[in-house]
Amino acid sequence: MATLVTGGAGYIGSHTAVALHEAGRDVVIVDNLANASRRAVEAVRALTTPEVVFVEGDLLDPVVLDRVFAEHEIDEVVHFAAHKAVGESVAHPLEYYRNNLGSTIGLADAMVRHGGNRLVFSSAGTGYGQPETGPVTEAAATGAESPYGWTKYMAEQILTDTAAVTDLDAVLLRYFNPVGAHPSGTLGEDPHGIPNNLVPFVMQVAVGRLDRVRVFGADYDTPDGSGVRDYIHVMDLAEAHVAALDALGRGLPGATPINIGTGVGHSVLEVIEAAARAVGSPIPYEVVGRRPGDIAMTWAATDRAEELLGWRTSRDLDEMLRDHWRWQSSNPDGYA
Ligand code: WQD
Repeated sequence: MATLVTGGAGYIGSHTAVALHEAGRDVVIVDNLANASRRAVEAVRALTTPEVVFVEGDLLDPVVLDRVFAEHEIDEVVHFAAHKAVGESVAHPLEYYRNNLGSTIGLADAMVRHGGNRLVFSSAGTGYGQPETGPVTEAAATGAESPYGWTKYMAEQILTDTAAVTDLDAVLLRYFNPVGAHPSGTLGEDPHGIPNNLVPFVMQVAVGRLDRVRVFGADYDTPDGSGVRDYIHVMDLAEAHVAALDALGRGLPGATPINIGTGVGHSVLEVIEAAARAVGSPIPYEVVGRRPGDIAMTWAATDRAEELLGWRTSRDLDEMLRDHWRWQSSNPDGYA
């Protein structure tokens, strides 16, 4: 039996493939490399013995899916494959709905036909908006702010409705802000173009590819005025996927949304200071205007993850930034 990781050449998928291997699973990665590097697959295979299997292919091609299920006896799946740039999704909504929903529908259909009945879905915490106060619970989902967010919201509904009438059971992991890298320094985040997200941008400043960090607003109603988010180490996140598959194996019927975060919020300025500690020198930054669409503060309620998965994070912000820096300083141009 084997575990299929769709989009397993991507940032979170590659780290999850390693964590699944370390948990004793036979891993098969399917990725069309549209937004990932073959070198990431090579790095995953260099960390795994026997090496994980890699199939280059597109989930929108039913022949690819049928072949993978038939040849590898897939009995569980972790589904990452998706376009994920919020701004790009606003400019190209049809491409996002076609790709993200089409691949989820095709995958669920293949699972129902071939009998793989345990699915962990890579969802997002983007549909929560600005909480009034305190941590965000799973009950707070209100929709989405972008076509990208709507594809995650709609995919959750597709899987919920499918799980209600088939043997498919799913855990819908709603991530907050993944950062960091595998401690080997050989796997990491390698965004195409100028990073949208804070930590990869900070790291590219630290390694000299960009000149300074722009802090999007320091006039929010937060402890130091800058935005507060729940940053989670990508290895903690990867291990949460293993815990979710294990929980499905013990019996977790239907489709279960679970927030995945540390339960602790950190501000932009705190992240920049932690990065400076990891790098060993100050990170130049400038406070500029707010970014449209940003909210002031959000962080995850973690009790449902602890209760249903028996899982919690173990790595703090300094470890996140140390591991991210080891990757970035060892690979200044990413997987180029
Ligand atoms: C974090 C904080 C910014 C960049 C996004 C996606 C979400 C999810 C996670 C996929 C905010 C500030 C940022 C910069 C800054 N991705 N910032 N300067 O917006 O919380 O969430 O990534 O699931 O879908 O929306 O993450 O890293 O962009 O921003 O000051 O150059 O850093 O204002 O307060 P975000 P982020």
